[in-house]
Amino acid sequence: MTRNFTEENATAEVLSRYADCPDPRLKEVSEAIVRHLHALIREVEPTTAEWMQALEFLTEVGQKCDDVRQEFILLSDVFGVSTLVDAINNRKPAEATESTVLGPFHMVESPAYPNGENVARHGSGAPLVVTGTVTDLDGKPLRQAKVDIWQANEDGFYDVQKPGELPDLNLRGLFTTEEDGSFWFRSVLPSYYPIPTDGPVGKMVLASGRHPNRPAHIHFIGMAEGHEPITSHLFVENDPYIESDVVFGVKESLVREFDLVDDPVRAAEYGVANPFYHVHNTISLVKN
Ligand code: BEZ
Ligand code: FE
Repeated sequence: MTRNFTEENATAEVLSRYADCPDPRLKEVSEAIVRHLHALIREVEPTTAEWMQALEFLTEVGQKCDDVRQEFILLSDVFGVSTLVDAINNRKPAEATESTVLGPFHMVESPAYPNGENVARHGSGAPLVVTGTVTDLDGKPLRQAKVDIWQANEDGFYDVQKPGELPDLNLRGLFTTEEDGSFWFRSVLPSYYPIPTDGPVGKMVLASGRHPNRPAHIHFIGMAEGHEPITSHLFVENDPYIESDVVFGVKESLVREFDLVDDPVRAAEYGVANPFYHVHNTISLVKN
């Protein structure tokens, strides 16, 4: 305790107020926040006007949030914090499919479809066939596993970003694996797209000279009984932003060649126009 709070004793004095914190985790986290926040202020030495600007920025982030928009998650995403938290909480054996960020465009209820369904309801884009298998870490196929997928279209838009223009539930589907662990669906090649730039986070990214784009990807959640679910993406090789994802979600093991197939017989078998893109995804789940 002190009645003389100074630049020199400020950190120690604030920390001392947590000495009797009854919740050890709250104590640990609060003390870390105080230490790191004070270190930041001591390093940057903001002017009073700059500190007000920072507080106004956080206020705007909060005010931008509503039922469908979560600007605080976006803030965590663009500083690489979401990916770091995900990595810390999903340490897995090397053979397991790696996880990455969920993102804001997942819907709890993707429509359940039989294998082979075309999830592209909007009628444009380059045809894509996605085949895959869900296995355990020994490569044993898992039947009756679920694969929930969602993606942007060829212009980089999710259905929920263009209501009325793009059909509801466009480019979303929930598939169930066959006896041999396989699943497949028809879709279109996704494009890279920017995170929203009409809010404080996007504006901050642009003001920093960073680009706002995510490389083209297909989101998926793989689930099977007795196994840990995995939330991840498939990334399209050679995307211009594959090495500079604005939210730091890319992992080498998740990047795939999307092959352009020029084969009218296979195109007819899959029920797509020729030529078409094809990608295969093995999802390896850890037992729980
Ligand atoms: C997404 O991939 O859907 C996404 C992830 C983080 C921020 C914005 C979008
Ligand atoms: Fe996405």
